[in-house]
Amino acid sequence: MRFQVSTFFKVLGVGAFLLIFSLALQAGPAPDGGGDLFKQKCSMCHGVDGKGYSALKTPDFTDAKVQASLMDKEIKETIKNGKKGTAMPAFADRLSDEQIHSLVTYLRSLKR
Ligand code: HEC
Repeated sequence: MRFQVSTFFKVLGVGAFLLIFSLALQAGPAPDGGGDLFKQKCSMCHGVDGKGYSALKTPDFTDAKVQASLMDKEIKETIKNGKKGTAMPAFADRLSDEQIHSLVTYLRSLKR
């Protein structure tokens, strides 16, 4: 009888731990957020702030004119397939459609 009671509390303890753990995960930053992805995959060429580097000829994504010159569809295509004749690489095999979508949302949020 004693054994069963202690087992019951152990199972309860593990359950509570898992619950708290999963809540803590949800409270943290979204792991696939566009901002995090941008920092990991794009910032080395486009700058952490998205302003680009003139030496690399990367555009300033905070510039309203640059934003206006790009359509969402074009941005998606560029991320997927890269830009021929430039250093912009293709990410189709490394990013899901969802991740690419969140990157587009993030790029749009940079506009001043
Ligand atoms: C190895 C460097 C490099 C990396 C990494 C890189 N880019 Fe680029 N990207 C470039 C360059 C260079 C250009 C400018 C191409 C040109 O001359 O039109 C560019 C252009 C762009 C453009 C504008 C395309 C256009 O039609 O004007 C977008 C949007 C873009 N990149 C998004 C991204 C995103 C999102 C990532 C991360 C997933 C990324 N890039 C990663 C180098 C890079």
